[in-house]
Amino acid sequence: MIQDKLWYKDAVFYQVSVRAFKDSNGDGFGDLRGLQQKLDYLSLLGIDCIWLMPIYPSPLRDDGYDISDYCNVAALYGNLDDLKSLVGSAHALGIRIIMDLVLNHTSDEHAWFKASRSDRNSPYRDYYIWSDTDQKYRDARIIFLDTEDSNWTWDEKAGQYFWHRFYSSQPDLNFDSPAVQDEIFKVARFWLELGIDGFRADAVPYLFEREGTSCENLPETHAYLKRLRLFMEKEFPGRILLCEANQWPEDVRPYFGNGDEFQMGFHFPIMPRIFMSLKKGRADDLREILGRTPPIPEDCQWCIFLRNHDELTLEMVSPEERKWMWEQYAPEPGMKLNLGIRRRLAPLLDNDRRKIELINSMLFTLPGSPVLYYGDEIGMGDNLDLPDRNGVRTPMQWDDTPNAGFTAGKPFTEFVKGDLDYRHLNVKSQLLDQNSLFHGIKKMIGVRRQHPAFGRGEMQWVDTGNPAIAGYLRRYNRERILVLNNLSESQQNLTLPAEHQGSVVDLLSDDSQLIKSSLSLQPYAYLWLKYDNG
Ligand code: GLC
Repeated sequence: MIQDKLWYKDAVFYQVSVRAFKDSNGDGFGDLRGLQQKLDYLSLLGIDCIWLMPIYPSPLRDDGYDISDYCNVAALYGNLDDLKSLVGSAHALGIRIIMDLVLNHTSDEHAWFKASRSDRNSPYRDYYIWSDTDQKYRDARIIFLDTEDSNWTWDEKAGQYFWHRFYSSQPDLNFDSPAVQDEIFKVARFWLELGIDGFRADAVPYLFEREGTSCENLPETHAYLKRLRLFMEKEFPGRILLCEANQWPEDVRPYFGNGDEFQMGFHFPIMPRIFMSLKKGRADDLREILGRTPPIPEDCQWCIFLRNHDELTLEMVSPEERKWMWEQYAPEPGMKLNLGIRRRLAPLLDNDRRKIELINSMLFTLPGSPVLYYGDEIGMGDNLDLPDRNGVRTPMQWDDTPNAGFTAGKPFTEFVKGDLDYRHLNVKSQLLDQNSLFHGIKKMIGVRRQHPAFGRGEMQWVDTGNPAIAGYLRRYNRERILVLNNLSESQQNLTLPAEHQGSVVDLLSDDSQLIKSSLSLQPYAYLWLKYDNG
């Protein structure tokens, strides 16, 4: 394993729901051994780091983001030895593993909460936020709008209200308690000692509450997170913290601190704008948000993504833009959820191979490290009959045998139905077909890995005189790569300024060519051109 401390800047991440990936023991649930069996597949795809969604014991009322025991693996998924074995095998293949660290809240079935609610004198009372009134912190918004009508829930046993930013089955921890602060350090140490390469820190803006504020991004929250980083830096250098803060770029910027808080942060607002640019056939919104994105410290890195396990969130757009996005991408009522769209990448793009490839071209070439959501590399569909976000969390489609090669037992959920079901779309057939989406994505990842400009380089928009073209230069040391994406459904001509003309290698086809002032791109075509003199 290369011991480069900045490994995350070049890395391609792959997000896995262990439950939905591969079942090794026939109980119908994916598990750690199943994932281990599929490491060769991930290695072939070329990813550098797996992001494991929560594998902790949990009543699964929020798919494991409701943890009932922080220092164990849910029996459904295996045990700690299975995890050690998985980490060992992954590392042997040069693949790192980060996992979700849910700091903000626990499950209401966690022993801390049980003790807290049952006894006012318990040392755990103070682990959560109790109140006689539900009128405190009125300026904090509700996040799960479709299911919750307040951030306070009355608890009979406790005789008080408790505070929660997500489901009422997920009471928020009280970070004003030094004991809680220490507990999270202990949890982090536990997993880092086991060999985990870092954490995707879940829902970090909400750790502290203060009256008269939105209770998001508070200075106390940053101070705590800096301590967490310092501890990791001292004892586990090279391990990373990735920030999940669904906020505007200027509000995420402080999570990087002076390079002493998070190494990485998701860039949420760029995501809907990538989809907007494709539908409008113009890159204006993308340019606007990148222009509004402040620089980050040298050793830090954005993470960009197209889809994940949640709804395609539209929190970071204006109300008008949200309405427009819903009209364009969620025409049926069952497709909306909270402030978003509960659909997968392929169906969002009409299962149009050209659009799916083009949007991935942007994912792999815009600044930041890309995060792929499992199954999107083969263009998996969704199942809108399943409630909440479960429709985008269906089992991986390995082959066309019964139950998709996912399980020999009774699967925990339904599969995707219709044109994109596993009989029509699966890993096995795509591996065999050199022209499949899988091979297209594999190629992009492979090219990206060979060119540090994508992970580390600066980006400069190139004026092509044609608004339908998203054209930009990525540059690192002497390496210069011109990326051209035709966002429109028609052929487009463009004019390249003199400074961008010259002899290039088309990185995706390996052809050499001389690019002059005018170029033409087919509908939804994309080019990654590397200058020879680089
Ligand atoms: C994050 C997760 C989401 C979860 C929530 C509460 O936003 O991505 O899936 O429901 O946190 O833990």
